[in-house]
This record gives sequence, C-alpha cells and structure tokens, in this order.
Amino acid sequence: MDCTCVVGLQWGDEAKGKIVDLLTADHHIVVRYNGGANAGHTIVKNGKTYKLSLLPTGILSSHMQAVIGNGVVVNPVRFLEEVTNLRAADIAVSGENLVLSSHAHLIFPYHVEEERLAEFGSPQAIGTTGRGIGPCYQDKLSRTNGIRVGELLYPDHLRDRLRYIVPRKNTLLRALSPEAETFDADALCAEYLGYAEQMKPHIADTFQLLHKALKSGKRLLFEAAQGSLLDIDHGTFPYVTSSSSSTTGIWSGSGVPAKNLTRIIGIIKAYTSRVGRGPFPTELDDGPTGLGETIRRIGREYGTVTGRPRRCGWLDLVAVRYSATLAGADEVTVMLLDVLSALDELKICTAYELDGQRIDYFPGDAFLLERCKPVYETLPGWRCDISSVRKPSDLPAAARRYVERIAELVQLPVSIVSVGPDREQTIMMK
Ligand code: IMP
Repeated sequence: MDCTCVVGLQWGDEAKGKIVDLLTADHHIVVRYNGGANAGHTIVKNGKTYKLSLLPTGILSSHMQAVIGNGVVVNPVRFLEEVTNLRAADIAVSGENLVLSSHAHLIFPYHVEEERLAEFGSPQAIGTTGRGIGPCYQDKLSRTNGIRVGELLYPDHLRDRLRYIVPRKNTLLRALSPEAETFDADALCAEYLGYAEQMKPHIADTFQLLHKALKSGKRLLFEAAQGSLLDIDHGTFPYVTSSSSSTTGIWSGSGVPAKNLTRIIGIIKAYTSRVGRGPFPTELDDGPTGLGETIRRIGREYGTVTGRPRRCGWLDLVAVRYSATLAGADEVTVMLLDVLSALDELKICTAYELDGQRIDYFPGDAFLLERCKPVYETLPGWRCDISSVRKPSDLPAAARRYVERIAELVQLPVSIVSVGPDREQTIMMK
C-alpha cells in the first residue's frame, strides 16, 4: 500500500502537473479521478512544453501507466485529440499505458450546448469552461440520461439509449432557447461509434486494474484536477465545478479506498488566482497598472483551457488552512515563488472580518465569503531573481521568511518550493 495524492488547495491552476512530474519516478500508475477536459495542465519537460486537459500528466513519463478513473467525464473528441498530439510529440500511447474506465461518463455535444445556453447572458452564470462538464455530471446523477464509456462498445444498445435520451435533450434545449442547436440520435450514434473504434484498446475495468496493482505492490499517484476550493460539496458553492476536486473524490472516482493513501501533498501558489466568477477576498482588482496585473503578467496567469485572464491576488491562508484540513494534507508545496520577486512587500491573509467580527475560519458559502474582508499581515519582499536558487539556504532571507510563515500559519511543513516551470527549478526544503 503506497499511494500518493497531489491535490490543489486553492481555486485550481496551482501547477500540480510539475509536482506530479517530479513524483513519477517513485510511482507506477498515475490516476485521474475527477473532472474532465476543463482542467488545464502545462508541463515543461526536457525543454518541451506539453498541454493536457483530460489525460493524466503522468502519461509523459514512459514507465507510467495512466488511468482515467470512473469519476472523470470524458469527451471522446478531446481524448483522441490529446492522444494524437502526444503521438505527434513522440510520446508513445497505447492501450497498455493509457487506460480509460468503462464507468466514466461520456460528454456529448448536447451537454456543451446546454451549458452554453445556461451560462450565456445569465446574471447567475458560474463562468464555466464551456466543456459540458456540469451538464454531463447532472446526467450522471439523473441516471436515466447518463451514458458511460463502456456503452460505446455495444452499438445497438448505444443507439437505443441515444434514441431515448436525445429527443428529451432537444426538448430541454428548445425550452432554454428557441435558437438552440438540436441533435439527431442516429447521427450522434454513428459519430460516437467511430470514436469507439479508436478508443476501444483503452477501455477497461479500472477498478480491477487498480486493485490488482495495489495487491502486487505497485505505487499509485492520484492526480486531482481543479482545486479543493472548487469542490462541489466543500468549495465556494455555487461557484464551483461539478466534481469532488479535493481528495474526497478519490474513493468514489477511482474505487480505491482512502485508507490506502500514505502521502497527501497539498499544492499552493505563492499567491492566489481564480478563473470564472465567485468570491475571492484577497483579489487585487486594481486596474491595468496595479499589482494584480503585475502578478498576472509575470506569472502568465491566463487559463490553459479558455485563455481567460486569471484573477490574481494575495495569498489567502485562511482558505488554504481550510482546504488543507479538508484534503488531509501532510505537507504543502509552494509554487511560483519567483513570480513575487518583483514586489516590494507581500501580504498574507491570516483572518477575515465578517460583518464587523474577526473570524479565522473559511465560510463554505459564496454569499458569506463575498462579505468577508481580508485581514493582512505584511512581509518584506526580496527584490531579486530567485529562479536559479536550488537550496533553501540560498534563498534570500525575506523569501525564506515568507515560506516559513506559510508553514507556521498552515501548520504543515513546506516540502518543496518551485521557482520556475522547469523540473530543475525546484528547491527541496527538507
Ligand atoms: P466547469 O468546471 O467548467 O463547470 O467550471 C466551473 C468553475 O470551475 C469555473 O469557475 C471554472 O473557471 C473553474 N474551473 C474548472 N476547471 C478549472 C481548472 O482546471 N482550473 C481553474 N479553474 C477551473
């Protein structure tokens, strides 16, 4: 039993992919258990940049088997596109090293259309990635409308299911807008059977696969998508994604019981970012010449999936303390510390003021978090390039102090500090 999980402790985009990449040498199988192609992972490896959305980033390591668990929602077009791109970059992909759960749910074009209509122009829009993630999870929970990957392998059965579901979907879409795009069940079936042919070698019972692997002593690495604050149950509801993006999703999203987890690594950025709508108490919404824009520019904070500028702000440790507790994190890694090198001084949020009262807990509701004002502690900046530092003792004193303060306030050790996108730009703190 040796399972590690890499989990984001903010609103996603914490650079989890880099830590997954560093850990692959010690593991045999990498597992994604939540979300879909809404995630954006950028990994720099041997000087090459890879962008993945749906496939586990661990697939970039030739010895790893990559598993997409039952908790993931899969758009076959994206799946095949990413496989093609990897092969074009000389990464070998086969049914052996990329395995897709037959119980993962399928995204269809009507999910994307439903999301577009629900989001477009709505005053209550979530600001989603537009990938059909929410509507697909809705159909999973509805049971009658959900179709799983394994059903692709039974053409007559798939046709029957689509002939039942698609007219219901068309009725719903037309009710949302008379201009809605509608769909033809048989055409969709033919299209998806075409994908099925190519996906077939990858489709398997991943529950069996993972449990056999555990029994034979293989080490598993769970790769969470999004961040814990976007978790459907524990995040800033309703401005969340539709899956269990903290470690909470591992058990249901892969079938591997939580008791197998031996190391949970919480990933944070040295500041905070968020894409889409929702409360963000430490946001630096201070215009085109402000600090928020400076962090966005230096940190290249633009969404990997949608290209949207990410909202940026100070490090919120009330939020991180909460999500680290939720995730059961054993340690924390601090990413993108180098981005803060240009700033004279840095603020860390240590508490909130809610309706005139100081609180040190994270309210789990967006409407309450919206009313929270951050209480800050100010620390000096270091004002020098740290991107070539490789040892903790070579960090400027102010940078060391910043990292130590994070450890004190989160009450967890900081095990790794990242000072650039390359594998080498990493400081092991122990
Ligand atoms: P959805 O997951 O597309 O339904 O979007 C719901 C919310 O989660 C939106 O605010 C998205 O911007 C956010 N979101 C989804 N995936 C990611 C991610 O990988 N990184 C950061 N934010 C994400």
